[in-house]
Amino acid sequence: MARYKIVNVQPYWEDCSIERKIADQIDASCVFIMDIDYEAIYREIPDCDALVIQYLKIDEDLLKRMPGCKVIVRSAVGINNIDLKACADHGIYVANVPDYLQGEVSDHVMAMFLAINRKLRFLDGRVRSGHWSVNDARPLYLLKTQSMGILGCGQIGRQTASRARAFGMKVYGYDPFLPEEVFLAENIIRVKDPDELFSRSDHISVHMPLTPETTHMVNYDRLCRLKKHSIVLNSSRGPVVSNDDLYRALKEGRIFGAGLDVLEEEPPTLPLRLAEFDTVLFTPHVGYYSQEAEMNMKRKSFEEVVRFFTEGRLKHCVNQQFFPQGA
Ligand code: GLV
Repeated sequence: MARYKIVNVQPYWEDCSIERKIADQIDASCVFIMDIDYEAIYREIPDCDALVIQYLKIDEDLLKRMPGCKVIVRSAVGINNIDLKACADHGIYVANVPDYLQGEVSDHVMAMFLAINRKLRFLDGRVRSGHWSVNDARPLYLLKTQSMGILGCGQIGRQTASRARAFGMKVYGYDPFLPEEVFLAENIIRVKDPDELFSRSDHISVHMPLTPETTHMVNYDRLCRLKKHSIVLNSSRGPVVSNDDLYRALKEGRIFGAGLDVLEEEPPTLPLRLAEFDTVLFTPHVGYYSQEAEMNMKRKSFEEVVRFFTEGRLKHCVNQQFFPQGA
């Protein structure tokens, strides 16, 4: 019998040989549950030592069902689906994998931004229906004369800033947690609050984690500070942007478009009101994805589990503040 049991919910692809190979280092057996299948989850977690997850919600009810679990790793950056304190109350340490990306989200944001800004969706439709005229594109404005506002200047926000600058755009940024040096080093003009960011920027790219404070941070009042040609991009978490307020701002012509890789409800219930506008582009929360990123994410998650059991520590613990003695 193996020494440990690791349950991995949503490993994303069938070939889990990398995970198995890493788990072998600590003589751990692995159970892979391909989707959020509660019957399988409830069957497998009672005797697990470690849980590796994607979108599975970790709450009191689930925690009660896994008395032997010592560590949970979220194979991604965002941890808003995990009740961190409840985990600590059950003696479970939680880690994320903040370093699996190498620019994928920012590439995706810029792809959406350029497509909306240059009206690609609309123009493609015009060509397919037999129209061939520059008049369909009017008006378009030179990117170099426009600015990008970065809401949240963590790693991904800064990568988006550097891509926007590569297109000659001026970049403003809001982040209450970073020191001044970061803004100077990245050539981001720091603003004092989100209101100022929306007032000064032509376009906004949202890179905030989801917390009670950031929920609906992008609201009608802030959207009204933007301009008629403005585009709002969200690649962080859906609820940071109020969909109703975004719909209203678009309907009233206060802004031009939106690029949404994340939505308040995922997957969304159809019909989706925002789909009324052909200046809104949707993608199904894939900004993080590349073959390389997914491979990194899988490998690093299991390495974190192995580190926990061999060295008694985690590289990226995210709930140590809830343990009296730290982690
Ligand atoms: C993706 O959404 C992530 O949290 O890494």
